[in-house]
Formats: sequence, C-alpha cells, structure tokens
Amino acid sequence: MEFRLNGAPVTLDVDEDTPLLWVIRDEIGLTGTKFGCGKGLCGACTVHLNGQAIRSCITPVSVIAGQSITTIEGLADGDVLHPVQTSWIENNVPQCGYCQSGQLMSASALLAKNAQPSDEDIDMAMSGNICRCGTYPRIRKAIKQAASQIAQASDLAYEIKV
Ligand code: FES
Ligand code: FES
Repeated sequence: MEFRLNGAPVTLDVDEDTPLLWVIRDEIGLTGTKFGCGKGLCGACTVHLNGQAIRSCITPVSVIAGQSITTIEGLADGDVLHPVQTSWIENNVPQCGYCQSGQLMSASALLAKNAQPSDEDIDMAMSGNICRCGTYPRIRKAIKQAASQIAQASDLAYEIKV
C-alpha cells in the first residue's frame, strides 16, 4: 500500500480492510487523530483525503492507495500554523481538547472551499463534529476569525503582486 501522508510518501504492508484511523495511529504512530465512536458519527477521527474532510474510522485504507492524506500533524506549513490553528489558540477554543483535531481538520477543509462561510455554512460543515464540552460558539468565532485572516493575507498578496 502506497500513499502520501502529510506530504511524504508512505509504503506499508497492511490488510486493505484496515480502517485508515488504525493505520495512522497504530502503524504510523501519529496519535493526534482521535478515536471517538468508530462509526463515522462524532468526527474525532477527521483527516483530509486530497483536501476533503473524511472520517478515517470508517475509511478502509484501500480507498487511499495512491492518494494524499493530511492529518492534524501536517496541517501547519512547517513552523507556520494554519490560520485555524492560530485563531483556535487566540480564542481559547479547546476545553478537554479530545475532539479538537477533528474540528480543526473539518474547519480547514471548509475554508479551503469556502473562504467566507456564513453561520449556516459553518453549522452545516461542522455538524458532524461533536464536542462534548460544548465549545461550538468558540469554534464558530474562530472559523470566522480565520476566514478574515485568510482574506487579509490574500488581499496583501494581491497588493504586493500589483
Ligand atoms: S471516531 Fe470516526 S467519526 Fe467518530
Ligand atoms: S473540547 Fe472536549 S470534547 Fe470538544
């Protein structure tokens, strides 16, 4: 089985029915992605498959052969945090933290396809990510702040270009 994980090539000898979450955590040792329900219902295990948010607990590893996976460990660009990570910190979003890597992966996938999401867009995109600590208001605020940061950065890049 060959695929890319956080930008690097990975080759593994693993049963093709193995859920991706088990491969990420147990075979590769990246434990930022969490096990919650194991049934695709809570979002704790969310990663990106070619930029789309997926539930790794219900994704057989065979599905990702030759594809590109990003986990929470690969969300930052080297030492530069993703805007959602910065805004999460600035808004003190996490409480216990268990759901938060999944929340961040869903939020970053949302902003990649919708740079200025409405409240409804956010609620729809994040509805599959459950937080037992009820951090939803801070999550929504942080997503909006990250969207502003991304918009400002792209305005600045445009001004520098012209
Ligand atoms: S652990 Fe995958 S959705 Fe809950
Ligand atoms: S921060 Fe505790 S479950 Fe979300």
